[in-house]
Amino acid sequence: MRSSTRSVTALTAALVLAVPFATASADVDGSGGPPATQAEQSRGNSYHLSDSTSRHTAHVLTYGRPGDDTLVGDWDGDGVDTLAVRRGSTYHFTNSFRGGDADVVVTYGRPDDVVLVGDWDGDGVDTLAVRRGKTYHVKDSLDGGPADRVLTFGRAQDEVLVGDWNGDGTDSLAVRRGADYHVSDSLRSGPADRVVRYGRADDEVYVGDFTGSGRDALAVRRGAAYHLLHELRSGPADRRVMFGRPGDAALVGDWDGDGTDSLGVRRTSEVGSAPEPQVPEVPDVEFDQPLAIPPLADSTVDDEGTRVFQLTAQEGTSSFLPGVETETWGFDGDFLGPTLRAERGERVAVEFTNTLEESTSVHWHGMHLPPEMDGGPHQEVPAGGSWRPTWLVDQPAATLWYHPHPHGRTEKHVYMGLSGLFLIDDEESAASGLPDEYGVDDIPLVVQDKAFTEDGQLTLASAVPSGVMGERIMVNGTVGAVQEVTSERVRLRILNGSTLRSYNFGFSDDRSFQLVATDGGLLTGPHETTRIQLSPGERAEIVVEMAPGEETMLRSYPQHLGDITDPEGYGALDTLDVLRLVAAPELTASAEVPGTLADGERLDEADATVERTFVMKNMRLNGQLMDMARVDEVVTVDTTEIWVVRNEDRMPHNWHIHDVQFEVLSVDGEAPPPELRGRKDTIYTEPGREYRLIMRFEHYTSTEYPYMYHCHLLRHEDFGLMGQFVVVEPGTEVPDTLPVDDHGH
Ligand code: C2O
Ligand code: CU
Repeated sequence: MRSSTRSVTALTAALVLAVPFATASADVDGSGGPPATQAEQSRGNSYHLSDSTSRHTAHVLTYGRPGDDTLVGDWDGDGVDTLAVRRGSTYHFTNSFRGGDADVVVTYGRPDDVVLVGDWDGDGVDTLAVRRGKTYHVKDSLDGGPADRVLTFGRAQDEVLVGDWNGDGTDSLAVRRGADYHVSDSLRSGPADRVVRYGRADDEVYVGDFTGSGRDALAVRRGAAYHLLHELRSGPADRRVMFGRPGDAALVGDWDGDGTDSLGVRRTSEVGSAPEPQVPEVPDVEFDQPLAIPPLADSTVDDEGTRVFQLTAQEGTSSFLPGVETETWGFDGDFLGPTLRAERGERVAVEFTNTLEESTSVHWHGMHLPPEMDGGPHQEVPAGGSWRPTWLVDQPAATLWYHPHPHGRTEKHVYMGLSGLFLIDDEESAASGLPDEYGVDDIPLVVQDKAFTEDGQLTLASAVPSGVMGERIMVNGTVGAVQEVTSERVRLRILNGSTLRSYNFGFSDDRSFQLVATDGGLLTGPHETTRIQLSPGERAEIVVEMAPGEETMLRSYPQHLGDITDPEGYGALDTLDVLRLVAAPELTASAEVPGTLADGERLDEADATVERTFVMKNMRLNGQLMDMARVDEVVTVDTTEIWVVRNEDRMPHNWHIHDVQFEVLSVDGEAPPPELRGRKDTIYTEPGREYRLIMRFEHYTSTEYPYMYHCHLLRHEDFGLMGQFVVVEPGTEVPDTLPVDDHGH
């Protein structure tokens, strides 16, 4: 799949030497380069390489010495680009990112030659060429012998580029004159094969295969913005990405061997200072708006001991952007809803009123409860109507949430702002010693992305058919949010409340944190990590430690969405700032996170009596679209089942089941990663992989009211990527069609 070619390296000496270099903690070798001065040794030369499709978002390393030029290439033909440094006419090549000594050292050409890197003979290994005026001396192997070929191309004063312009597996030359690129499809003397015009005459230009097509194209850089072409042609850019800082020296390479080139920067910094991460995609937000904390919902306890909440869906306006009123919907307010909170063992009731001009519903996402209380499409509440679901809270402590689920309109209702959290407490969570002072050291974060029209209204217009990828990130409705941290440890309860976008959360200084809970509650013990990826509807609770006076940014990093056809369209490459955390000069003490959090009782695969398979393919679920009147699956109460889920589309889907929390038995036959070992109700399903889930159905039965399972990418759900199951007593006859009352439509 991968192009055997390279991208850019030393396009011109000026470009490679755009920043001063400095020393490395990992010296390349002892052979011959100029020794570093003391002053130079006090500074480090670090490389920050983005890795667009890997879960490991970046290589950060130091390499080489002051004065070295940096080259990028695949020196050993393994499909991965690595670094080399040049000192005069000596080249030090590494074949991995492990640091340490060079793997190969060769001498070639003269110290003042301009050097080029390319796979000139198509063998998958990059080698060197040196340029003297318009003459190119080309080597086909990485050794110090004489040139294998000599050719002339262009004019002596032209800037030259190297790339595989036609996808034939060999690199050839192009020369640049202003904004015109004279491209030769084969490495030979003679005139160019074609001319393309791109960018401006004063742009810095880079070469890379940014789509994995096997053909190289151009990118121009303006500050930290890169305007990428997906194929070599005249015309406007296909994509714009932000990366690094304006003063960085840029590198292009395939750092992970996936066949797609991505960006890297080289930067000089003080030795030992923390690597500076990528800048966010939307750099014009200050992150000085105090984070809104959803209020805890009031409740009363009635004579029977039921905790009663009231909730009203209503229209309102919010000011997300300075000076602009945006029409929004909320529960008990203009946007989002209050946090409901109850103890395991309590009976709750919610008196819900719909003051919208259309029907809606309130679904209790993640809750184990009777199907007629579930708030799915069978419990729509008409405009002006009300509904009073009641149930016994009987499941472990967890961060659940609630949102509308009207048939075919869930995306719009959630997007307009109808969502809130529902926290369950129990003895285990109380005993855990985890931070639990709501809004102080236990902070809910409803993370959403929004797109706005020019006049500042929310819009569902989208570039990808699956829904909106908003360019504004908000937390609890606050854009550019900052939260003061007043304790040594803070617990963040993160909900991906977006309709389509997944996030790969981490911190700007790459500090680690403890993952303590997933959708359905506490993990058996904390999992220390630097990233947690959440698809729409998923939750994670993390505990972050802070030192007095420091600050860090909760950020979403590039992420792995699997083998999808349009990773950039689905935000896999995005870096987005989410929430700035600023620690007070003095912090109150917090208990350490205990090694054991929950009892760890697991469902036993041997108890499973039924296995069902669900395939999402061509935007159908097992070949069908949702039908409110059709029962897709009949489950017997008090049984354990295995559901095997596969996404056979090359787009993102995830998978959510109502009523139960499931456990992940395996992903493609392998034990799940730590973040998928806890109780889950929603899971991202990478294309082509098989997810085996185990769950137990208990307590509630009905032949009339089903529960749902579906993709939680809400436009997909609305489209019909959803099915229904009923849970019944053993031996119950289930009618073929369900009563569907269509009030409200
Ligand atoms: Cu959060 Cu069926 O949905
Ligand atoms: Cu989907």
